[in-house]
Amino acid sequence: MKILYIGDIVAKIGRRAVGQVLPKLKEERQIDFVIAQSENMSTGNGISKKSIKEMKDAGVDFFSGGNHSFKKPEGVDMLNDPSEPIIRPANYPGKTPGRGWKIAETPFGRILVINLLGQTFNGPLLDHPLKVVDAILEENKDEKLAATIVDLHADLTSEKVAIGFYLDGRVSGVVGSHIHVSTADAKVLPGGTAHISDVGMTGPIDSVLGVKKEIIIEKWLNQLPNRFDWPKTGIVQFSSVLIDVGSDGKARSIEQILINTEVN
Ligand code: FE2
Repeated sequence: MKILYIGDIVAKIGRRAVGQVLPKLKEERQIDFVIAQSENMSTGNGISKKSIKEMKDAGVDFFSGGNHSFKKPEGVDMLNDPSEPIIRPANYPGKTPGRGWKIAETPFGRILVINLLGQTFNGPLLDHPLKVVDAILEENKDEKLAATIVDLHADLTSEKVAIGFYLDGRVSGVVGSHIHVSTADAKVLPGGTAHISDVGMTGPIDSVLGVKKEIIIEKWLNQLPNRFDWPKTGIVQFSSVLIDVGSDGKARSIEQILINTEVN
């Protein structure tokens, strides 16, 4: 089974790039299931009904999240809807809206998708990601699963590498998101888990992590609050990884797919 994971889709320009690239890529590479990192998908961060619909229409099957997932009330409603294929990090405490994992029923088998936040820089109140993922895997140990994919939304590559080895042999893939810069370390670990520290963003190249570069530099220079804005047109890098999962649930390969596309 071929599973494509698309890195942080940034704002409308990122969604338009997915619309331009994904349908053809799915056909060419015979991709069975598509997961996207959704937390920045709606302009101004968060998720909206419109952005989810647009991405479903383009061919995305499942949406993972992050620290920005809760920014829009309608996004929170969607997180709370069990029928929506949308999750947020599992290690938020208590009564946080939504779920941290879901099983997607597909023609190719049942796919467990788990979302975790890294610990460093994300707040001391988070539950421990390693203990949380252990509990989720234990809860699902009797499920017949074709694949299990973990999205680790984290700042530190050291955490991301460590969790890859921690889960090696127990899940099909561990993919990193959040930092919006692709790392060049995609590989299948010895136990059969595909891993990359960060897939990178699907957002404008001429930007600072997706935001207009002038705004970020100005803010840094003058230390004054200013409104973020996102380029509307330009070259976008579609950043993704394609994981080929065998019938034993282990990864046979992971390939980084980076495609530049012009959004007018
Ligand atoms: Fe994030």
